[in-house]
Amino acid sequence: MAPASFQLIAALVLRETSIIYEPRKEYLVEARLHPLAAQAGCANVDAYVQMLSVNPVERRKAIDALTINETSWFRDNAPYQAFTETMLPALIAARTERRRLSIWSAACSSGQEAYSIAMLLDQHLPAGWSADILATDVSTAMLTRVENGRYSQVEMNRGLPATSLVKYFTRAGSEWEIVPALRKMVRTRHLNLAEPFGAIGTFDLVLLRNVLIYFDQPTKHGILRRMHQHVAPDGYLLLGSSETTLDLPADLHAMWDREQIGRVQAHRPAGAVSVPRPFSPAISAALTGVRP
Ligand SMILES: C[S@@+](CC[C@H](N)C(=O)[O-])C[C@H]1O[C@@H](n2cnc3c(N)ncnc32)[C@H](O)[C@@H]1O
Repeated sequence: MAPASFQLIAALVLRETSIIYEPRKEYLVEARLHPLAAQAGCANVDAYVQMLSVNPVERRKAIDALTINETSWFRDNAPYQAFTETMLPALIAARTERRRLSIWSAACSSGQEAYSIAMLLDQHLPAGWSADILATDVSTAMLTRVENGRYSQVEMNRGLPATSLVKYFTRAGSEWEIVPALRKMVRTRHLNLAEPFGAIGTFDLVLLRNVLIYFDQPTKHGILRRMHQHVAPDGYLLLGSSETTLDLPADLHAMWDREQIGRVQAHRPAGAVSVPRPFSPAISAALTGVRP
């Protein structure tokens, strides 16, 4: 694609999502826009980029195509193990009156993260408890995918245990559909992390994983500052495995404590209300039904 087209599209994506496309990523942008250009009847990607300035529908499609939606079930495993063995028992012990947990999958992509957590909650929440999972993303195409709760065989093969496939999915033609009980736990909302989050409430656990890597430092820091008021005082924030060692300025250091939980480093609002954690294996087992 022509350098001028690349600059135009990189500026558009930066403005709308804060995702940075560095020079030399022309091949990637071209590969992602080529099918859209063909569908729209454009002779090439340069003509398609020209069209974007006057066609908001295509502009939305192009932005969706350039958000990087790589995800999988129980991605990296360790955060989900830490959730089941340590965070969930601590939250259950701390929420005995409310008997409800709130979880936010920020930058949810096609929903595997939100539904992986939903499966664990289905297995380990005590009877009479409920959970609400908010799944947000800047890509409207991804939010539609979460709402549909349908996945291809290739997607199913990425990290989903066979027992979970049988328990939580039904066949829908060549795809697999999530069961209504899990679907009902997850609600979606369009949210650009680079902008104010609005009145979305406070969460016991926020998964902000594998998205900060696409932003520049001021954007990352702004997000972590705003995030502070959306994590409950005794709640948890989980970043991606390559994002936990981010260099933080002094004010952010003062806002967040880091807690090592197994192989995972969780961020917690500084001075988090102390609840007994981690539990002994025997207490964890009694609370969650997971045998030590
Ligand atoms: C690599 S996926 C990560 C998905 C999931 N969190 C995981 O770890 O598997 C990154 C997601 O971030 C979303 N994203 C990118 N920029 C965003 C922004 N400014 N606000 C919200 N979501 C954004 C993309 O649309 C994409 O779905």
